[in-house]
Amino acid sequence: MKIAIIGAGNMGGAIAAGLAKGKLVQSKNILCTARTQTTLDKIKAIDPEITATTDNSLAAKQADIIILAVKPWLMETVIADIREHFSPLNQVFVSVAAGIPLEQLSSWIHPSDPSAVSVFRAIPNTAAAVLASMTFIASANADTNQIKLICDLFDEMGSTMYVDERLIPAGTALASCGIAFAMRYIRAASEAGVEIGFRPEEAIKIVEHTVRGAAELLLTSGNHPEVEIDKVTTAGGITIKGLNEMEHQGFTSAVIKGIKACL
Ligand SMILES: NC(=O)c1ccc[n+]([C@@H]2O[C@H](COP(=O)([O-])OP(=O)(O)OC[C@H]3O[C@@H](n4cnc5c(N)ncnc54)[C@H](OP(=O)(O)O)[C@@H]3O)[C@@H](O)[C@H]2O)c1
Repeated sequence: MKIAIIGAGNMGGAIAAGLAKGKLVQSKNILCTARTQTTLDKIKAIDPEITATTDNSLAAKQADIIILAVKPWLMETVIADIREHFSPLNQVFVSVAAGIPLEQLSSWIHPSDPSAVSVFRAIPNTAAAVLASMTFIASANADTNQIKLICDLFDEMGSTMYVDERLIPAGTALASCGIAFAMRYIRAASEAGVEIGFRPEEAIKIVEHTVRGAAELLLTSGNHPEVEIDKVTTAGGITIKGLNEMEHQGFTSAVIKGIKACL
């Protein structure tokens, strides 16, 4: 199975790195494209066996699965430029672009018969590179085997949720944008760490491990966050004082408003 990633920048490159670390696709069967040599060099640095080229057509005609990962506003032109090299009835197309509906993608890929082409939208986040992405997947005209294959591929890069397309924007806000929100918390907490006495590199490491520990605890136990919070908030203690002060400053409300603003 060969996979082409058209536009292997931040997101496409993270997918290439994740696929190369996984077991389903061999690195020599991953073909990545970009415009500049600088980006192609970054891809080669992930794994020299990955093919890195500026030739979109070369990649598109060889692949069984074509992952389209250019910026949304370039998608129509890039597809139109290489469409003649597609075999739309034998290939599976996966777009990671935010905001472009499946119906639109199908009509760009196979204008003469859009409903005949198997198209997916996958919304991962950049943690795909370290096999820890939360990825949302929706499809049009795909059979159960194709859905399983695409879910399996992204499962190797973390966790996937197959959803109705109407939930893709919400998934994008919560997980793709969400990774930046989590990182902003890490930055904010580490700045506090410096103010209360740690060197910057110590503070950031402490917060990174604290956040990882919190996520691992919840994932492993299946508990609601408040159950775990109750375990660490002694009556009259310092943790509840800190939490309440954050809430007085609008912590929960700020997070909800931020996520809703992404929609
Ligand atoms: N970043 C995220 O967290 C994230 C999450 C979910 C979805 N997405 C989606 O992923 C897509 C890419 O976003 P990104 O953040 O990865 O952007 P990016 O880093 O700019 O990557 C886009 C890549 O496309 C390449 N490119 C531009 N024109 C091309 C062409 N004609 N042929 C082949 N390659 C071309 C660029 O090559 P050069 O580098 O050589 O210029 C660049 O590497 C977007 O549609 C976005 O909605 C991103």
